[in-house]
Amino acid sequence: MKKTSAVIGILVLIFFLATACLKPREVPMISIDESINMYIVADPHYMSEKLTDDSKTFINYLDTVDRMMKYTGVFLDIVEDEIKKNQPDIVVFPGDLTNNGSRVNHLEFEKRLERMKSTGTKIYVVPGNHDINNEKALYFKDDQLQLTESINEDEFVKIYKDYGYGEAISRDENTLSYLAKPYKNLWLLMLDTTKDYPEPGGYINRDTLNWIVSCSEMAKEEDAEIIVVMHHNLLDHSDIIWEDYTVDNNTSVLNTFHEIGIQVVLSGHIHIQDIKSHTSVETGHTVYDIATSSLPVYNHQYGQLTYSPSKGYDYQTIKLNVEKYALENNLKDENLLSFNKYSEEFFINNLCRKHKESIRLLELSDEEKQEVFNTVVEMNKKYFSGYRNEALKEYIESEGFQIVEGLGECFIQEYIMGMIKDQNADNNKLHIPIK
Ligand SMILES: [Fe+2]
Repeated sequence: MKKTSAVIGILVLIFFLATACLKPREVPMISIDESINMYIVADPHYMSEKLTDDSKTFINYLDTVDRMMKYTGVFLDIVEDEIKKNQPDIVVFPGDLTNNGSRVNHLEFEKRLERMKSTGTKIYVVPGNHDINNEKALYFKDDQLQLTESINEDEFVKIYKDYGYGEAISRDENTLSYLAKPYKNLWLLMLDTTKDYPEPGGYINRDTLNWIVSCSEMAKEEDAEIIVVMHHNLLDHSDIIWEDYTVDNNTSVLNTFHEIGIQVVLSGHIHIQDIKSHTSVETGHTVYDIATSSLPVYNHQYGQLTYSPSKGYDYQTIKLNVEKYALENNLKDENLLSFNKYSEEFFINNLCRKHKESIRLLELSDEEKQEVFNTVVEMNKKYFSGYRNEALKEYIESEGFQIVEGLGECFIQEYIMGMIKDQNADNNKLHIPIK
């Protein structure tokens, strides 16, 4: 009798497990009066502490990059802390997850995602140009810069199977692009836009564009909205810096997005905070490309997008409070405890270095050069953080600006004038009504 009961018990268990496996994953619906909350963490460029040391070579390397490599882990710790506190529904990472695609960086980054996901947040990633087949994957040891292993495309999919690839409802045959369905009525089209890893340029080939159209047909059948997430930019975010940032064939991509009714594109790559839109002359349809600035780059912020079927989309940026985090977590690093001062100094030394060089070559007195540099620094700080036009107008009165205006055509003049003529005054906030 005991034996029969045990057999029946096992059969019931097998039946239960089999039906559980066959049952399609329940996908929730966002009801008309609900809204969902999504974080966008762009270009975190994570670098493991295992790959660094305190050598002079490493310190010299830190001075050559725009991002604050030394603290990429701390910035992600703060994001993780905020995810645990605020429990956003979704977090997307539009590429450049790691510094130069080192395997060690990817494996540690994945562990961080695992912790973020443990709170119930859905996480989706796509690769950026730095993440795959990167022959510049590096580490620092014995005061030397050494090369280490990167990962290939298959390994990327394997490492990140729990962050989009495993639940994709469609995969592109030519790239690592995929379609995910976190909600019945809100889907994510995660696009792999790097033309040739690890080269910086972006491109979406004809076959992938056809696949994108087929994804949109699937979504239309179920009356679902699609948000596009891609590493490269859809639209030019600067008059001077666009080559290798905007996808090469953005006219065809733009036409496709207008045709299928995409409203929102979330991108990264350019490392500055900027929102651009394009309206189709024929149909009047508008698509927005929201480029969120890189997490380890001044002004150290991430994006937040809320979506409501009745109200549409609302985007804003959230600046990391590094000093508060350092204090609350008893961190002893002085740079973190006085982060606002440290990050400003880092910004002047690293991000304004190129401008300092250009100013040095101008035929001006040392005092005039200093005035011009002071103006460039202040305007750059606003520009990188996403504030333009009105916010920059106060500097038009400055002595440095007047000097630049009086110069002949040169890089600094072109750069400063380019910052002022922007489509948006505030690139940190946007409301997009529902179609
Ligand atoms: Fe990047």
